[in-house]
Amino acid sequence: MSADPLLSVRGLVSGYGSTRVLQGVDLDVPAGSVVTLIGRNGVGKTTTLRSILGSVSPAAGSVTFDGTDITALSPEKTAREGIALVPEERRIFPGLTVTENIEIGRLGGRRDTAKPSVEAIVGEFENLSRHRNSKGAALSGGEQQMLAIARALVSAPDLLMLDEPTEGLAPSIVKQVQRKVEELNDEGATILLVEQNVQVALDIADYVYILDKGQVVHEGPSDEVAAADEILDRYLGVSVAD
Ligand SMILES: Nc1ncnc2c1ncn2[C@@H]1O[C@H](COP(=O)(O)OP(=O)(O)OP(=O)(O)O)[C@@H](O)[C@H]1O
Ligand SMILES: [Mg+2]
Repeated sequence: MSADPLLSVRGLVSGYGSTRVLQGVDLDVPAGSVVTLIGRNGVGKTTTLRSILGSVSPAAGSVTFDGTDITALSPEKTAREGIALVPEERRIFPGLTVTENIEIGRLGGRRDTAKPSVEAIVGEFENLSRHRNSKGAALSGGEQQMLAIARALVSAPDLLMLDEPTEGLAPSIVKQVQRKVEELNDEGATILLVEQNVQVALDIADYVYILDKGQVVHEGPSDEVAAADEILDRYLGVSVAD
């Protein structure tokens, strides 16, 4: 067994056309942990996840996953290595049913790993079981988010990346999503979470990176970051309850 982190990002420089967004990002995700990336709008959180996945090609730096250099891989190949991204926009198929959406997710992921059945995954989500034959478009925002997570999980990923899973959801639904992420981690999932809800992020995470203008400006265990009032105020403009 190796003590190396499951995911290791070093000096990642990335952007769109001539616009450089990431200015050299370093981060680690140890196996079995929840690591969160927080920061104001537009600082490069989504770009970091896209650069790991390969939908944005890094200009410099490296992404190492389970000992393999995956920096230059396409999103399809990265998924085959065992990384799943639940994107900010969720991207569920509105015209397909809950079950059909999850069946599509089952086509992805590693080829050499046993995947759960669609039924087993549906059964883990109370609010999807009730709607298994409903079209994606008929689901509420919270149900669509759960479906997006379920579709990623059915590929049996070794790393689950979630981009703002609580965005736009009512407080009670935010709690449901939070509990789901915690439950997945309790069951052993390794999670890289981007969250705009700082309280949720700090509650869930073991370790926190704060991103500002494409750089990690602060990092630490979540209880330490939660107590760093001045830093939270400076980089996020928030104060967090104890
Ligand atoms: N497809 C794109 N083409 C060009 N520029 C983009 C594209 N996507 C994002 N950007 C720009 O890159 C910068 C970083 O965006 P990114 O989406 O990574 O930020 P973010 O931290 O995820 O923000 P948010 O909290 O709003 O989701 C922003 O200035 C944004 O306008
Ligand atoms: Mg984003």
